[in-house]
Amino acid sequence: MYLNNNPFQIELTETSDGSHTLKLVGADEQYHSLNGAMQESEHVFIQAGFNLVIENKSSVNILEIGLGTGLNALLTLKKSFELQKQVYYDAIEAYPLEKDWLNRLNYPSLLREDWFKEGFKLIHEAPDTTFLSIREVFHIRCFKKKIEDVELTKEKYDLVYFDAFGPDTQPELWTTEIFDKIGEAMRSGAVLVTYSSKGAVRRAMKEAGFEVKKIPGPAGKREMTRAVKI
Ligand SMILES: C[S@@+](CC[C@H](N)C(=O)[O-])C[C@H]1O[C@@H](n2cnc3c(N)ncnc32)[C@H](O)[C@@H]1O
Repeated sequence: MYLNNNPFQIELTETSDGSHTLKLVGADEQYHSLNGAMQESEHVFIQAGFNLVIENKSSVNILEIGLGTGLNALLTLKKSFELQKQVYYDAIEAYPLEKDWLNRLNYPSLLREDWFKEGFKLIHEAPDTTFLSIREVFHIRCFKKKIEDVELTKEKYDLVYFDAFGPDTQPELWTTEIFDKIGEAMRSGAVLVTYSSKGAVRRAMKEAGFEVKKIPGPAGKREMTRAVKI
C-alpha cells in the first residue's frame, strides 16, 4: 500500500520486544530496529538524548526529523509527564502516515495506561502553526514537509532526534548540508542523537561543526552517535 505521495511501500511487522514497526517492502529498511522498536527508541532517543539534556532544565525544545509512527514522540510525552518537565516538540514528517496504519500500531496498549491512546492520537493531529498541548507538559507541532523544505528558527533547539531512514536508503539526508541546516537551528551545547554510527555520517556531522561521539547502541547494534553542537 502506498501513502499519499510517499515513495515507500510499507507493511506492519512485530519486532523482538513485541512492539510493532513498519517495514519498507522490498528494501532492507524499516521505521525501527527489528531487535525491538520500543527498546531502540527508548535507548537512542530517551536514554541517550532526552535524559541527558533534561537534567537541570525545566523545559526543553526538541526537533525530530521523521515523526513517522510517533513512537519517539510518545515515549518523550511519557517521560515529560513522569518528570513534569515542559517539552516543546517540533516534528518534521514528509510523508505522514494514514490513520489506518496508526490504528494498527500497538504502542499505546504496550504503555498500558489508558490516556496514552488519546496522547498517541493527539500527537498525530498536531498542526504546524500552534502547539497542541497534551497533559499540560508536552506541546507538539508537526511540519508536514521534507526537512529540505522547512525553514528552521536559528539557535532554538536543545535536542534533536535525527530519525530519517538509514544512510543507504536516504543518502541525501545524511549530508554536511543537512547537518549544517540543523546545526544552525541548535543552541550551542545542544545534543543530536541518531541510531547510525556510520563513518561517513560522523564525518558529515564534524564538517557541520559538531563534536561527535560513538556511544553504545541499543540491542543488536554495537554503537550509535551522539553529537554536540559546538
Ligand atoms: C526511520 S523512520 C522514522 C521513525 C519515527 N521516528 C518513528 O518513531 O516512527 C523515517 C521517517 O522519515 C520520514 N522522511 C523521509 N524523508 C524525509 C524528509 N526528506 N524529510 C522529513 N521526513 C522524511 C519518513 O516518512 C519516515 O516517517
